[in-house]
Amino acid sequence: MHDDTTRGDGLLHQPVIDSAEALAANAWAQECATLPAERIDIERMKIPQRWERYTEENHRVWGTIFEKRMAQLGRDGSRVFLDGAEAIRLTADAVPRLDVVNAQLSALTGWQSFGVPGYLPPKCFFAWLAQRQFPTTISVRPADQMAYLPEPDIIHDVFGHVPLHTDPQFADFLQTYGKAALVTDDPVHTERLARLFWFTVEFGLIHEDGRLKLYGSGLISSEGEGHHALYSSEVERRPFDLEQVCDTAFEIHHYQPILYVLESFEQLARAMRTYADRLLELASGPAAA
Ligand SMILES: [Fe+2]
Repeated sequence: MHDDTTRGDGLLHQPVIDSAEALAANAWAQECATLPAERIDIERMKIPQRWERYTEENHRVWGTIFEKRMAQLGRDGSRVFLDGAEAIRLTADAVPRLDVVNAQLSALTGWQSFGVPGYLPPKCFFAWLAQRQFPTTISVRPADQMAYLPEPDIIHDVFGHVPLHTDPQFADFLQTYGKAALVTDDPVHTERLARLFWFTVEFGLIHEDGRLKLYGSGLISSEGEGHHALYSSEVERRPFDLEQVCDTAFEIHHYQPILYVLESFEQLARAMRTYADRLLELASGPAAA
């Protein structure tokens, strides 16, 4: 899931989605985007995952992509991702059940994931993160779009994002990010936060065991982008520095020419706490009154 306002409706017409529930949840999310942060109620944005409605094709697409990605990620994926995927019981056998994922996840870090119909407005997305909850799409891409899909599905959201939520440092980082982003109205800081999300949660690299590994969901869920990130000579791989990350613009529609490399998730959590303190102070200060 991204903090994006663009919604794709292409995957709403699947048996697993009840369109009346999806429309109501989406209408509420749009309404919440106009409300003050304390009145945003994330419960009404949720839709149930009726797991028994997934088709044979859905399970087959999930399993095919899972196996293909794991063949690369066994070598190139962060240990934190690989351990996390195992801990939340992701397998090639079937589309994951969110109740099974949550039973494991909540015991480890207190995070949970619930279904939503599609992209949420940014403030709503931040309200979820601030409560240690992650909105995930529950649909599965069609078999003829296995290689690339412009909008998120359960493969991007649950396979790509959720395993990292088992790590205590990453889990703290993401909640702190959500709390800070929720209260930030200054457009300069809003843009800086979007860049931070992009270069970490979506496209982050990390040093592990003496080499570079993938952890950002955009790299975890895409074979081409993951390979390019690690092995292309055209990529500039910079050491993570929060200020520099926040000052770096990004473009969405091609492979990333600049990436940032963490030394540890503790480094990310610490940098975020410092930045969040600054943003919370700004939000509660006289300038925001
Ligand atoms: Fe994402």
